[in-house]
Amino acid sequence: MDNLKTNKILAAFLLAGLLAMGGGKIAEILVPHEELAENAYPIEVKQVSTEGNSAAPTDQGPEPILALLSSADIQAGMKLAKKCTACHEFSEDGKNKTGPMLWNIVDAGKGEKDGFQYSDALVGMGGQWDYESLNAFLYKPKAYIKGTKMNFAGLKKPSDRANMIAYLRSLSASPVALPSQEQIDAEK
Ligand code: HEC
Repeated sequence: MDNLKTNKILAAFLLAGLLAMGGGKIAEILVPHEELAENAYPIEVKQVSTEGNSAAPTDQGPEPILALLSSADIQAGMKLAKKCTACHEFSEDGKNKTGPMLWNIVDAGKGEKDGFQYSDALVGMGGQWDYESLNAFLYKPKAYIKGTKMNFAGLKKPSDRANMIAYLRSLSASPVALPSQEQIDAEK
């Protein structure tokens, strides 16, 4: 192969290479592109509700309330109960509505009000509605009982829960004892 031919071939390769490299640049100059403000194909991200999941990382509650019960405000609890009356009746002769009647609920067995169709989740809990379980349930019903039918966000303020539970305790011919100092100490 003579030198001239070799040079021509080399030159051709060089040119091709330069064009390939420059091509992109030229295209960029000819077709200015802007950053898209939004994704051309927006990706739908569903808002996943955290209800029903156990407490989110930022959740600190439920705070202990046993120590608050002896000085809790029953009248304030009665007012708070307006949040519940859409679904619950509180009097001794109260009827089941969307939710079961709540007379004599403190220390009653969970899911045992006559004639009410409880969720399997609640019945499956077993045990009694003592102060601590009421505190946990009323803080965030769906976190305490996954699958409960009670559609209520919860009472986030410890004093609200204490007042509410003190009111529930008063709904009885013979209210159960207030927590002992030992129980209060053990709760923390
Ligand atoms: C939207 C309706 C609704 C509201 C509002 C509501 N509840 Fe309920 N509640 C229910 C239902 C339904 C159940 C039964 C849950 C199940 O079977 O899982 C229930 C169950 C309960 C239980 C357990 C009863 C048992 O016999 O085991 C308690 C205690 C209770 N609710 C207290 C309250 C209090 C206190 C409030 C207000 C702060 C309240 N609920 C607000 C519907 C409601």
